[in-house]
Amino acid sequence: MRILVLGGTSFVGRAIVEDALRTGAEVTLFGRGKTGTDLFGDLTRLIGDRDTGDYAALGAGSWDAVVDASGYVPRHVDQAMDALGERAGRYLFISSHAVYQLDGVGPGSTEDAPRRPPVRDTEELTNDTYGPLKVACEDDVVARYGTWATIHAVGPATPVTLGGVVESCARAAGTEVEIVAVPLELAPPFFPLVRTNWPSQQRSPARARVAGMPATALEVTAADVLAWDRQRGEPPLDGGFTPEQEQAVLAARRPTIPAGD
Ligand SMILES: NC(=O)c1ccc[n+]([C@@H]2O[C@H](COP(=O)([O-])OP(=O)(O)OC[C@H]3O[C@@H](n4cnc5c(N)ncnc54)[C@H](OP(=O)(O)O)[C@@H]3O)[C@@H](O)[C@H]2O)c1
Repeated sequence: MRILVLGGTSFVGRAIVEDALRTGAEVTLFGRGKTGTDLFGDLTRLIGDRDTGDYAALGAGSWDAVVDASGYVPRHVDQAMDALGERAGRYLFISSHAVYQLDGVGPGSTEDAPRRPPVRDTEELTNDTYGPLKVACEDDVVARYGTWATIHAVGPATPVTLGGVVESCARAAGTEVEIVAVPLELAPPFFPLVRTNWPSQQRSPARARVAGMPATALEVTAADVLAWDRQRGEPPLDGGFTPEQEQAVLAARRPTIPAGD
């Protein structure tokens, strides 16, 4: 199978390329040639720029499938589809959960959850526009290709609690943690893993499983990310509380809350 990946050298796209190569696919990359230049040395890398609309490198060739991992605004997908014409069998657009409405969506929501209205009058990506611009991208791909399906390719492999996430990460790191429950208001906004709209992050992966998409065990993901962080030659990732902030929160917590709740 011949697959063209728009992007594919950083994070989600890179994982898709690695998987495609494992299945024996013939992969071509399209990007500016700036990210992950040390990756996939054997693959053809077509150079262009979606921001300036430079798709000249896509002028020849045909592919069974295109994976669009770098489309953020409708112009990106429209120009890419124009450039490819009839030479792409199907178009897989990597969208985002940000397309869905936040209110009234509970855990286990499916691909049929209501989306936000599309936005087309800006290309500036902000918290407010990122999702609605992705909605417009989705609409344009559907309009062009006709038959379509949306799939939540999400994990984890088994349902997990927030405490379970923390414990899994600790196990992957070979350490132990003591989980202490504190009132939400003591955590700063967007403290890692604390989201007031958390239920909206718990999408149903049922359709993906039926389609044969497996999920990776959380321990495996945590170990992989840790290994990646350690070998990439950058200062370790950090985030969350400093030790002093942690002590302050622990001191301020209400003693009536039992640990583990
Ligand atoms: N990361 C998340 O948590 C998350 C969550 C939900 C959805 N998504 C979606 O997942 C998609 C993939 O994100 P990713 O960063 O993991 O993808 P990726 O494909 O691994 O990396 C981004 C790619 O886009 C290329 N690129 C960037 N700017 C470009 C431009 N102007 N023209 C052409 N190519 C360009 C980069 O290469 P060059 O720099 O060499 O051009 C790179 O290969 C995005 O659509 C994002 O919205 C991500």
